[in-house]
Amino acid sequence: MCGIIGYVGSQDATRVILDGLKRVEYRGYDSAGIAIEAGGKLAVAKRSGKLTSLVTELAAHPLPASGHGIGHTRWATHGGPTDNNAHPHVSADGRVALVHNGIIENFAELRAELEARGITFISQTDTEAAAQLLALELAACDDLTQAMRLVCARLKGAFTLVALDAHDSERVVAARRDSPLVVGLGEGENFVASDVASFISYTREALELGQDQVVTITRSSVTVTDFAGNPVPTRRFHVDWSPAAAEKAGFDWFMRKEIFEQPRAVADTLLGRTTDDGRLVLDEVRIDAAELRLANKIVVVACGTAYYAGLVAKYAIEHWTRVPVEVELASEFRYRDPIVDSRTLCITISQSGETMDTLQAIRYARAQGARVIAICNTVGATIPRESDAVLYTRAGPEIGVASTKGFLTQVSATYLLGLYLAQVRGTMFADEISRWLGELGAIPDKIQQVLDQAERVYALADSLKTTQDFIFLGRHVGSAVALEGALKLKEIAYLHAEGFAAGELKHGPIAIIDETTPVFVVVPPTGAGQLHEKMVSNIQEVRARGASVVVLAERGDTSVLPYAEHVLELPITPVLLQPLTATVPLQLFACELATLLGNDVDQPRNLAKSVTVE
Ligand code: G6P
Repeated sequence: MCGIIGYVGSQDATRVILDGLKRVEYRGYDSAGIAIEAGGKLAVAKRSGKLTSLVTELAAHPLPASGHGIGHTRWATHGGPTDNNAHPHVSADGRVALVHNGIIENFAELRAELEARGITFISQTDTEAAAQLLALELAACDDLTQAMRLVCARLKGAFTLVALDAHDSERVVAARRDSPLVVGLGEGENFVASDVASFISYTREALELGQDQVVTITRSSVTVTDFAGNPVPTRRFHVDWSPAAAEKAGFDWFMRKEIFEQPRAVADTLLGRTTDDGRLVLDEVRIDAAELRLANKIVVVACGTAYYAGLVAKYAIEHWTRVPVEVELASEFRYRDPIVDSRTLCITISQSGETMDTLQAIRYARAQGARVIAICNTVGATIPRESDAVLYTRAGPEIGVASTKGFLTQVSATYLLGLYLAQVRGTMFADEISRWLGELGAIPDKIQQVLDQAERVYALADSLKTTQDFIFLGRHVGSAVALEGALKLKEIAYLHAEGFAAGELKHGPIAIIDETTPVFVVVPPTGAGQLHEKMVSNIQEVRARGASVVVLAERGDTSVLPYAEHVLELPITPVLLQPLTATVPLQLFACELATLLGNDVDQPRNLAKSVTVE
């Protein structure tokens, strides 16, 4: 997500901050900015686009010399990637500059409260509400650290904040809840940053911060407290990563880093989706509820991994809304004379928002009168711009070409959308919707439990590193997981892998299974009754053909143990949500196997991250 830096020292803050921002460019961003304090005043430069635009602006209008400043690279979430929405945000009284990473869930409520007090907002961001609130608290107590604590106590969501006070030439104050923040300890200078990469060329000594903490840095001191102002212990560490490793937070590949980011990415996607009275809301809706109620068919169009997210969506949306859902490959959709009219609701899924096949498919659907809802990770991309409503996944930039956190956040977003449509169409009671939201809220922890077993998955990859063919089986939503597991192996390990709905096995694919074929089986939860029983029978069928079986099964499911060579445990989830946990070991497996085979995991041969040609 966003890159953040704060600096206090004797070097030129603008240079140090720009340098730090360059080192977090890999995170992806769509605007950048710097604020410094000089002579009791703030000076700000910010620009949409790449850092070069900011550098050009600074060359034309240099900021005054200063050793005290903050900087930011922004990946848009609330409000498009414009100059005005770029950080830092300065309060209406001109006293406070603030940068932010994360999502402030209650920003609309705070903004309304502040507007009622006569404050005029100039951006569409959630961050500006925090900047204005910080200025009000600061005006009252005249202490930036104390004002920051008071603001944090009022914010809901996940955030890292870094602030500068025009009247205070000593301090930079930062706070953290759930989003990343580290302190860099220099000689006569100190740093705060979302990432050690930002300060690694100045110091390798760092402090790790915990959750819900506020840190105040000066040239010669670092003070850390909790939100109530009590001192808290911190952990000092030495960074021995190379600058290149630091970009990947110590992981060998962006893809592996992104797999491990999934608990956070899914949590962010789910954040702030309900109003105070518990009703679900989308990011941008230009379709009225009456039209959503009239829809008699839903068509999901997408490509690649996003298409598999659509296959999962079909099960959830049909179950919750009772509206028929078709899932279409975007590249096929408009060439087969599909039945689409003004009562068709088209859902499009795209991480990049720029895939040409998908874009052409939604243009076609709209030309036939359909309304289009986009699920997208990139704010302001072409697909959401050309859609009637948008639900953004908040995965942060995905750099690895093979999609991982993109998939999990897309699946999460389709669940939110399914529940939203059920709410609008009245097909579920409010308490049922909130029960599902509760189940979804528990998912980030469950993903973490799966990630904690990574070493077992890596050992499995090592034991299968000379294998040439793999089969993946699933039932119900698990059949889409099987397809995604096979796709990951094809994409980065360049191995032959196929995914099937397990019931189809006996109608053909079982002929290719022999003792050289490992079969990965996504076993439905035991609570899924018949689905589970049928899968146990399918496992026996492949075992009878000599295949070695790797099962992904719910913790405590002993029924599959007699037939499995390897067992990877999954936390207990309702079957509809199981893709959010079951996909993760398959991602880890592909990443590890491709690494063992010496492949370039982040940039696999022949593939592009965003395919902008038909
Ligand atoms: C490319 C990528 C895939 C991705 C697909 C759709 O083929 O390599 O990882 O799933 O495009 O991309 P989108 O950005 O539309 O989700």
